[in-house]
Amino acid sequence: MSIFKSHIPLEILIVGGSSGIGLEFVHHFLQYPNLNHLYATFHSQDSANKLISLSQKYSQKLSPISMDITAEKSIEKGIKEVSKKTETLHLVIYCVGILHKDEFQPEKSLKQISEQQLLTYFQINSIGAVLIAKHILPFLRHSEHSIFAAISAKVGSIEDNFLGGWYGYRASKAALNMLMKTTSIEYSRRSPKTVVVALHPGTTDTELSKPFQKNVPQGKLFSTTKTVNQLVQIMKDLKIGDNGKFFSWDGTTLPW
Ligand SMILES: NC(=O)c1ccc[n+]([C@@H]2O[C@H](COP(=O)([O-])OP(=O)(O)OC[C@H]3O[C@@H](n4cnc5c(N)ncnc54)[C@H](OP(=O)(O)O)[C@@H]3O)[C@@H](O)[C@H]2O)c1
Repeated sequence: MSIFKSHIPLEILIVGGSSGIGLEFVHHFLQYPNLNHLYATFHSQDSANKLISLSQKYSQKLSPISMDITAEKSIEKGIKEVSKKTETLHLVIYCVGILHKDEFQPEKSLKQISEQQLLTYFQINSIGAVLIAKHILPFLRHSEHSIFAAISAKVGSIEDNFLGGWYGYRASKAALNMLMKTTSIEYSRRSPKTVVVALHPGTTDTELSKPFQKNVPQGKLFSTTKTVNQLVQIMKDLKIGDNGKFFSWDGTTLPW
């Protein structure tokens, strides 16, 4: 069912396209000769510089769109911007996520649990993705195949949790996985040519992983280019029967 066949003029939305893995997806898809248009959202102006300058270089192909994923009105406004140019999307990738920011750090112990921090994890890592799924369905429902992929994390696997810690991040990724699985079931009825998946990118060299990279085994810290190539390969191989699955970077499925 590959959506990447050369005769399809691709319309792609990267949510969280201003840094890390999301920005690398933008670089990657801009090289496709059959790309019709790429929409990439950014949040803070500070981290949007690279995306904005890319959009000046590729003004016919790339539209940067402001979106705060914690405000549904901002999501609706961003999607309205997309709708001015297209009614159809072939691929939507949710790359937004938070692990740490200034005082906001993953909890090592119950003593560090904070109500506000937990809420923030869920708002950014889980709820934003399902709000996108809610508003973007009409764009994905068309005569061709389409993909809705959310970048999750293996630490969100409940079955695979042997180490503990990182309560909020783990729980918010587990919630993201359940929201994607549930979305996949509704989409199979309302948009049967769309495949919904959660993807674990592997530890990737971005701001998000920077403080935690020293214990990563040699060869297991991927560049953003490597990660994006691996995740694109998974998406190229997707079949309708893969709807609702959780894939790791090497193409194996992960336990929920
Ligand atoms: N890097 C890894 O090792 C790794 C491993 C497993 C999973 N992941 C997952 O991969 C995804 C991408 O992460 P990354 O490593 O590329 O990290 P990153 O460079 O920090 O990217 C995170 C993105 O989320 C955006 N974001 C944060 N809060 C937002 C909000 N309220 N509204 C809209 N956008 C917001 C950020 O935009 P601003 O900077 O403008 O806020 C940024 O574009 C995340 O879901 C992460 O959990 C990463």
